[in-house]
Amino acid sequence: MEQLSSQCRKRIIDSQRDAWLRYGYHPNALYWSNEKIQRLRFEMLTLAGIQEGESVLDVGCGFGDFAGYLEDQGKSVRFTGIDLSEELLAEGRRRYPNIELFNGDLFDFDPADASFDHVTLSGALNRNLDDDGAYARKVIRRMYDACREGIAFNLLDARHEWTAGRWDLQSFQPREIETFVAAFARQVELVDGYLENDFSVLAWK
Ligand SMILES: C[S@@+](CC[C@H](N)C(=O)[O-])C[C@H]1O[C@@H](n2cnc3c(N)ncnc32)[C@H](O)[C@@H]1O
Repeated sequence: MEQLSSQCRKRIIDSQRDAWLRYGYHPNALYWSNEKIQRLRFEMLTLAGIQEGESVLDVGCGFGDFAGYLEDQGKSVRFTGIDLSEELLAEGRRRYPNIELFNGDLFDFDPADASFDHVTLSGALNRNLDDDGAYARKVIRRMYDACREGIAFNLLDARHEWTAGRWDLQSFQPREIETFVAAFARQVELVDGYLENDFSVLAWK
């Protein structure tokens, strides 16, 4: 079953290509304002308890920089990244030759249930797909099925007026997402207050 319309998929791929051609290997090519903010989001994902040697599937991995971040923290993991943008992945393969990178979305990749210790996502559900967040919820649920231990992801915070007012961005009420995840996860934790327009959710099996 197709989860992402071909129109949305094309919009994401085209805008990532434009950003890549404009900025090259830089956080701006990922729509992050700077590296500090990119890494702060990564730091929140690691609160899920990713350990040395574990397997991580990162959805919407961009260049695969989360692998580099974990390496910098002294955590060598078995890293698999997936992303819709082949241009970003091609650069990622040059920068991080030891990780596995696949082109597509989570439903193209279709991991078996419980096939990765952790499944993570940073920034890949921030675009308005005109579906009231339905695709994002499907991705989050599928991430949980694919993990053995836990998931960690971030979303834009709808309580932030400027973010919520942007037509091109999809933002969410943190408590609503926490309740959504709590319906299927054994344990869930909301992480808030590290950036004014972003929150993270951690959940475990
Ligand atoms: C804000 S960037 C973040 C990249 C990376 N997670 C990081 O923080 O360095 C979002 C990434 O998600 C990818 N993306 C957007 N929607 C996606 C989807 N449905 N499936 C897979 N990748 C997606 C984009 O191509 C882009 O590389």
